[in-house]
Amino acid sequence: MSGARKVHIKSFGCQMNVYDSHRMADTLASEGFIETATPDDADLVILNTCHIREKAAEKIYSELGRIRVMKQEAARDGRHLMIAVAGCVAQAEGGEILRRAPAVDLVVGPQSYHRLPDLLARVARGEAVIDTEFPVEDKFDHLKAPSREATRARGVSAFVTVQEGCDKFCTFCVVPYTRGAEVSRPVAKIVAEVERLADAGVREVSLIGQNVNAFHGEGPDGRAWTLGRLLHRIAEVPGIARLRYTTSHPCDVEDSLIAAHRGLDALMPYLHLPVQSGSDRILDAMNRRHTRVDYLDVIARIRNAQPAIAFSSDFIVGFPGETEDDFRATLSLVDEVGFAGAFSFKYSPRPGTPAADMAGQLSEDVKTERLHQLQALLDTHQKAFNAGCVGQSFDVLFEKAARHPGQIVGRSPYLQPVHVMAPPSIIGTVCRVTVTEASANSLFGELDAAPMQHGEPMMAEAGG
Ligand code: SAH
Ligand code: SF4
Ligand code: F3S
Repeated sequence: MSGARKVHIKSFGCQMNVYDSHRMADTLASEGFIETATPDDADLVILNTCHIREKAAEKIYSELGRIRVMKQEAARDGRHLMIAVAGCVAQAEGGEILRRAPAVDLVVGPQSYHRLPDLLARVARGEAVIDTEFPVEDKFDHLKAPSREATRARGVSAFVTVQEGCDKFCTFCVVPYTRGAEVSRPVAKIVAEVERLADAGVREVSLIGQNVNAFHGEGPDGRAWTLGRLLHRIAEVPGIARLRYTTSHPCDVEDSLIAAHRGLDALMPYLHLPVQSGSDRILDAMNRRHTRVDYLDVIARIRNAQPAIAFSSDFIVGFPGETEDDFRATLSLVDEVGFAGAFSFKYSPRPGTPAADMAGQLSEDVKTERLHQLQALLDTHQKAFNAGCVGQSFDVLFEKAARHPGQIVGRSPYLQPVHVMAPPSIIGTVCRVTVTEASANSLFGELDAAPMQHGEPMMAEAGG
């Protein structure tokens, strides 16, 4: 029998889940678990789930069906495979998961991950355990930090959760119920986490939160800091070359954030600013708390501060009561802003949210047709944006070897993958690249000059 136990964690949904999965792995590492890339040889499988749309939630049950078979096979070999469901489905459905999928041993909501070691000990004693509380203690104080090796293995770009939960209650959305009320982490803890990441080779940090620009964490001066102020502080951490933040709400774009876009070189000129719809009637029914003009005004203010900025967004088509005119208003907003990228979805009624009970639910056919039209339009804008990059020079943060031999891939300021022929020593550095070619989803280019070093490279010795 081998010593270490193995855990396989599979993440669904948003970046918050990716971050949480890492922190679960880090916490379990201190309990002697090592991570494995497949469920086949695992002693523990954790599905970190998403409840945002019906499809996302149903995917979990088909996944659980597959893992149940593995659990039966393991049992025939005399091994016990523990199955845990974490994340937003766990929070929303709780004990219902155990009824629908009795092979599950543990259901754990997003606010209880720091209790995993105790919860697993109870599972080992033969209990089926459900923990979907919002405990009074702060999970961030109890979750373990990653080892240097774990951070290095995860690459040069890292997420850091700075804010969690949402108080906005858009009428279509489950997040306020699955993640609870808005909470911001204290500045000192965030800075300490970023310093640790930078020390292990991280060069780019994305500050994440369900409503990240509502950040109001306590600063070292005892005052509530804004996201703009936090960004300035994090830019001072040695080794951090690039900053991003996501996801923002248009109502919470305040002046210090705009100032950060104007003056902070490390802050990348690319902003994900979900709008959902271009129709005031629908925005009101969604309880988005802003109009089309308000949104365009925010875009104009940020563009004014940072002319190089590009925007991406989220859209929902087929919200209850959406007319052809409402939908056309969304299309015209897309043309007016010219998004460099976007995610778009058919409205999915979620149990317990106000919109699920609204009159005027639309047919699947109408939603499908509108989604196709919207996506075709968004595609033309994305292609135009990428084509417009050809001939331009950008700073690219190189992340890893590309699939094509000899090529290294990195990210432009606009998150486009950029491929160049270069030595692996440029990984972990920011280099100037002239873009020579654009395809639908990525760019190709040539290095302008010898690599410009930002601290030690991640994976290889420089200059070798
Ligand atoms: N906090 C972010 C994003 C939350 S979820 C924000 O305020 O925008 C990510 C995206 O999923 C949303 O922006 C929305 O476009 C989509 N979404 C959320 N609930 C949905 C639903 N019930 N049906 C379809 N799409 C939904
Ligand atoms: Fe959901 Fe709206 Fe909150 Fe975003 S702002 S997480 S869409 S409720
Ligand atoms: Fe999904 Fe929960 Fe994120 S519902 S989008 S995993 S906050």
